[in-house]
Amino acid sequence: MNFSNTLIYWYLQNNRELPWRKTKDPYLVWLSEIMLQQTRIAQGLSYYLKFSEAFPKVENLANAEESTVLKMWQGLGYYSRARNLHFTAKYITQDLQGVFPSTYKELLKLKGVGDYTASAIASICFDEPTAVVDGNVYRVLARYFGIHTPINSTKGIKEFKALAQSMIDVEQPGTFNQAIMDFGSLQCKPQNPNCEECPINNSCVANEKGLTKILPIKEKK
Ligand code: ADE
Repeated sequence: MNFSNTLIYWYLQNNRELPWRKTKDPYLVWLSEIMLQQTRIAQGLSYYLKFSEAFPKVENLANAEESTVLKMWQGLGYYSRARNLHFTAKYITQDLQGVFPSTYKELLKLKGVGDYTASAIASICFDEPTAVVDGNVYRVLARYFGIHTPINSTKGIKEFKALAQSMIDVEQPGTFNQAIMDFGSLQCKPQNPNCEECPINNSCVANEKGLTKILPIKEKK
């Protein structure tokens, strides 16, 4: 099995049961992805449940007072995310007649939505083969392919995005994206990864050359 199929196979056996994975509603997936930017899943989970219950549809969030939204966001940090969330809910409700954009290109135009979030929503909800690159993806790719380019350099950002894009399973892009992220956080962990029991250890450059401790490389700025 190749890299992508192995990760998907691993994911089917090991994936985390998360509430936003039960839906393809772009509003709910967007909500979860915004919350998970700079936030751990364990921390974001209760906020997602609270928000999706209080605001099951984008109109509900749009019609809430900003002060209510900010109060509910308390504890998650990075409050610009909450302001952008509310702004974008109003924009979609009022200017887009409540219809969520359905392509990577259109999603990218939304306030608070960058390359990562647009790729996640487009692939998970609309099966568009756009690769996500987060910290987990950088680590998996840098180790597996033995890449020393710093992940926070302009060159690295381009290189890793292109590599992720070339690995994506075009039949199930959303599954592939979530598989590589889960694989990075549960298996190919930053510290003490369990390389003995890894399904791709026999073709992993870092494992072969003893580079797991030094990859990925982050340059000091
Ligand atoms: N981190 C942020 N969003 C995620 C997702 N959909 N799957 C796994 N990890 C994530």
